[in-house]
Parts: sequence; C-alpha cells; structure tokens
Amino acid sequence: MKRLTDRLGGRLAYGADYNPEQWPESYWPQDVQLMREAGVNLVSVGIFSWALLEPKEGLYEFGWLDRIIDLLHANGIAVDLANASATPPPWFSRRYPDSMLVDVNGIRRSYGGRQSFCPSSAEYRAASSALTALIADRYADHPAVAMWHVHNEYGCHNWSCYCDASAEAFRRWLQARYSDLDALNEAWGTSFWSQHYYDWAEILPPRTPSYHTFANPTQQLDFARFSSDELLDCFRAEAAVIRGRAAQPVTTNFMQFFKPLDYWTWSQEQDLISNDHYRLAEGLGAGGATHDLAMSADLIRSLSDGAPWLLMEHSTSAVNWQPRNPAKPPGQMIRDSLTHLARGADGDLFFQWRASKAGAEKFHSAMLPHAGTDTARWREVCALGAHLGALADVVGSRVATRIAIAFDWNAWWGVELDSHPSIDVGMMGQVRRWHRVLWEQGIVCDFVHPGRDLAGYDVVLVPSLYLCTDEAAANISAVAARGGSVVIGYFSGIVDQDDHIRLGGYPGAFAELLGIRSEEFSPLLQGEQVRVTSKSDDAAMTGDSVGTIWTELVNIEDAEVVAVFDDGPFPGGPVVTRRALPGTGTAWYVGTELDTAAMTGLLTNVCSAAGIEAAPRPAGQRPDLDVIVRQSDSATYTFAINHGAQDVPLDLTGTDLLTGRPWSGGSSVAAGGVAVIARPLPA
Ligand code: GLA
Repeated sequence: MKRLTDRLGGRLAYGADYNPEQWPESYWPQDVQLMREAGVNLVSVGIFSWALLEPKEGLYEFGWLDRIIDLLHANGIAVDLANASATPPPWFSRRYPDSMLVDVNGIRRSYGGRQSFCPSSAEYRAASSALTALIADRYADHPAVAMWHVHNEYGCHNWSCYCDASAEAFRRWLQARYSDLDALNEAWGTSFWSQHYYDWAEILPPRTPSYHTFANPTQQLDFARFSSDELLDCFRAEAAVIRGRAAQPVTTNFMQFFKPLDYWTWSQEQDLISNDHYRLAEGLGAGGATHDLAMSADLIRSLSDGAPWLLMEHSTSAVNWQPRNPAKPPGQMIRDSLTHLARGADGDLFFQWRASKAGAEKFHSAMLPHAGTDTARWREVCALGAHLGALADVVGSRVATRIAIAFDWNAWWGVELDSHPSIDVGMMGQVRRWHRVLWEQGIVCDFVHPGRDLAGYDVVLVPSLYLCTDEAAANISAVAARGGSVVIGYFSGIVDQDDHIRLGGYPGAFAELLGIRSEEFSPLLQGEQVRVTSKSDDAAMTGDSVGTIWTELVNIEDAEVVAVFDDGPFPGGPVVTRRALPGTGTAWYVGTELDTAAMTGLLTNVCSAAGIEAAPRPAGQRPDLDVIVRQSDSATYTFAINHGAQDVPLDLTGTDLLTGRPWSGGSSVAAGGVAVIARPLPA
C-alpha cells in the first residue's frame, strides 16, 4: 500500500471505478474537471472493457483507453488499471461455447450478464492472458498507472463450475492432493454407500445426485477447496503476466466474508489488499449493517497482516441489487468511509464515478449523481474529498489489538455441509454475534487463521471451528498454555481436515484443552430455548440467561462449571466451563448460543482479565460512538464516529485533523459527525 500512497504524494487514495466507455468522449473533460473539484486522485479504469478493447478476435483497439489515461494523467489523477478479464465479449462466448459456466444441475449458463466463463476453460485462460499481456505491455511505463486491478471480484458470479473441463481439472487437483486413489478413498470415506473409486476417470464434481440424498461430504469439501484454488490459478496467471512486464503493485478486489474464496490463501498473492464493502439495508437488525462494516474492515486489516489496505469499492448512497435500496441519509457516507479508514484503510474508493444511464446498474448511486452537481450528494462527495485531503498524516499508521477471532474458510465450508445436526449452526451467525459483542463494547478485534502465528494475541476467540487440523488445535491450545485465554464455541473441533469425526468425545480437537468430554448433541428446534444458570461467583456471566440453537451432554474431566442448563434435554448439565491452566492461562467452553447479555458478560470478563479495555469513550455511549485508534511512530489518531442523534463529549486533548482546531476536554463529536484527533507521542 505504501508504494501506492507514495505514488499519490503521501495522501490517502480517493476515487472510484471510472467507466468512461459508457459516455461520449465529449463528457471526459468535464469528468476529470469534477474529479479534481472533489479531490479524486485515483480511479479504476477498464474493468469491463474487454468487448471494446478486442472487438474481434485478435483485433485490438486501445485508442480510447490511451486518450482517457493521458487525460487523467494531465489532470494529476492516477490510474488503477484493470486487465479487463472480468467478462469476455459475446463474440468470445459464442465462438467458444464450452468456455461458459455449467451449474450443479448440468445446465450451461449463458453470456449476457458478467463473469460468464468457466474458471477451468483453456480458451478463456489463453484469451485473458493474451489481453493482459497486451495491456501490460502498452501501459506498464505510463506515468498515470499507479497500480493494477486484476479481474474484478473473482468468483462473484462463477465461484464454481461443474462442466467436463472442470471435472478434469478437479481430478488433476485431487491427484496432486492425494497421489493415489487409496488415499482419496480413505479421505472421502467411500466405503460408505458403495462409493469406492477404482479409476480416476470415475470421479466427478459433486453434481446434483439422485432425489433426496446427499453428495459425499468430503467430495463437496474438496470441491470447495478446488474451486477457490482454480480461480486463484486464474489470478496467478494474470498477475504473473503483469508482474513480468510492470513494476506497480498488483491487487484484486476482495469481498470480505465471501464464502467461496479462501482469502487467507489469496491474500498471500497480493501486493496490497483491497476490498469492496456494501451496506445491507435489511436482514441484520438494528445497528447490524454498521457493525457489519466494522467487522468487514477488521477482516481485511487482518488479511493485510495489519498493514494499511485499500477500500476499492463502496457506495455513496443506494445500491441496485438488494430487494429494497434506500438512500444513505446525510452524513452516513462520510461515517462509513471514515470507519474503513479508522480500521486501517489508506484510501476510500467507490463504485462508481458517474451514475450510469443504461445497463443493470443505472439505479446504483455514484460520486456524480444523475441529477448532477447541484445536489446534496455531490456536496457530500466533495466534503469527504476535503476530509481525506486533511488526513494525510494518518497514512501508514496502524490499528493494534491483542484479541483475535480464529476464522478459517475450510471450517466454514465444513460446518455448512448438509446432513448435520442442525441447519441453524453455520459460520457467520456465530462469528457475527461474538464480534458484535466486542464491537458494542468498543473493543477492536483482529481475525486470524487458526494455524498461523498467534504470538501477538492474549485472547483468541473460536466461535466456530467445526473442522480443525491437528496443527491448528495445537496452535490454539498453546495460547492458553502460555498464559493467554481461549474461548471455544459449540460444534468446534469436531472433525479433521477430511471431515472425519474425532473419536472419543466432543469437542475432539479441544477436549483436552478444555478438560471436558461431550457425549451427545441435541440441537434445539426452531423457537425453542433453554434456561441457563450461572454457577460462578466471579461475574464471569452476569446472572441467568437463555440459550438457543444448541445443547449437548458435557462431562467434566478437569474444568470448573461456570453455568448449567436449568431445563431442556440435559437439565443440570454443564454448558459454560472454564479450565485454569498453569499461570494465567484459561480455556473456556460455551455449549449453547448464549443470549447477548450473557455473552457480553463472559467476553468482557475474559478481556478485562487480560487487560484488554475499550478505547476511551463516555459511559453508555456504545454503540453510537465508535472510537478507534490508529498509531504511527510519532502520533496517535483517534477516530470518533458518532452514529447517534446526540452530540457526544469526548475527553481528549489534541488536534482535530478535519477542522484543524484544537480538541480539548470540553469538545464533543457532533450528532452524526466525525472527528480525527491527532496526539503526538512523547519523543
Ligand atoms: C460490485 C462490482 C461492481 C458493481 C458493484 C455494485 O462490487 O465490483 O462492478 O457491480 O458491485 O454494487
């Protein structure tokens, strides 16, 4: 990211996807003039331009792209140049029909939308690499080009394909993983249901099987792994073509918690991490969308190993793809943008610069609305540009925390396979609830791959890790062994990497760490709940509560009972347990879906025992006032974002970078407003 912000003169990035090909060339001078007015310094160009850049096979037309890149450069606006591989033109799909996606039911999907290709198509791969090479050769040395934008949101519309070419690629992937068929038969448990394979050619993607039955779960799991890897191969090939010709940083835009792609693997291949985030209007409950934004930013910062990252897309106002698409009220766009910055972004870009007048996204908001510049939206876009201009000092600073949530895509794929104890147990429900408890308390939290270095964390939370390798289990257990705290949620540690049950009692991988042994699960029916009574006298949980979704029969081997079920299938049985390890180490188990008050009591207890406190904030102001601190070598930057309708006093001294005025003990963050208070660190 530093290479990009250096290229931008040490400023935060501000801009959007820019699709000049949707407009007559006579509009372009006005576009760049208005970009300057808004403070735009970076635009993404060419993302969906393949059909115009290659109107016929092998015939290329770069003239328009030359002209717009030159014009942007003449106006001091840098370019995030795409390799245009996101959607092949209709002529391509017609000429190579086998390149189009086939779904799980064997139906070939058509072109006419976007990402209409099969990731394993040799024709698609050859054509996209050829186009990428031409673009990289032509623009590698153009002074406007500050970075490269490979493809767009990989897998958004084609995360897996079940065609014959995909089947062949899947078999190659399996041969590399298992070497021989015996190993595959063992891993897939094919002695079950007469599924033993005698020839690699017999193996297929998990296409829809006969009525009312399940495909082999390990086959499904491996197909999810393969599908993420297959798209990553596409990224690698295109990025390699660019890196062989150009020196600017290369990225592709992520979609935060996007189930099909294992971003822990993908992030290793990026020169800088970039993300797209859109606010959901419905479905997350009160405050849920604001929390979702914070949680997304925390994941992306973690995928970036704590280094600054780029918000590649968000919206100035409404989107077009939800059932109902409300506009953002005044101030929300600025609060959203600053929340991404507060949590580690070094730039805010939008989809898109000028609102389209045709096509599927014509009702999607943009920096420049249909109604033009005499609009509240445009004025707010300019105000945000001025804010970002005033925040250059923040560039390169980081967010630090000693608490992390263990998160793994393999566990996500595993826990949401079919034929499980309850469809109510998934990955994101649990993760979202636990993260939200911390967010409500003003505690900033990282995400971490369970198998990677956990040395920087005193508290590791494991809301959901159904599938867990031996190495990851040992890694997590080591946190408690060295004096840290670990909290494990129900239905974690159940299976190994092949989705085989860990025998001897649940939660297999963590039973020893927790000092418990569970013998049976009994998930609750829809609407059912159980009463939970606290047995602990140290305020680990704040009194009695209710549990939903899950119960199980827990035996204590070497742990303290913190709470028990009062009723339900296992009355009197332990539900929350704690095992003290030598020193300060503790290992907690939570055997039901505790209500928010109990979960808040438990997690705040764990955090304060580890000395992890919320950022400074007035009592009772959560979640209205979000306070997050970024730190550089020489200063701290306290971002204060007021989502509420009242002014909130914030007792700090420093300088508000947004106004340039001193901030003192008597200052308040205005209702709906933002402040970024800089305080020099002692020399
Ligand atoms: C995604 C895509 C963009 C656009 C926006 C609309 O993020 O990358 O091309 O479709 O969604 O919200």
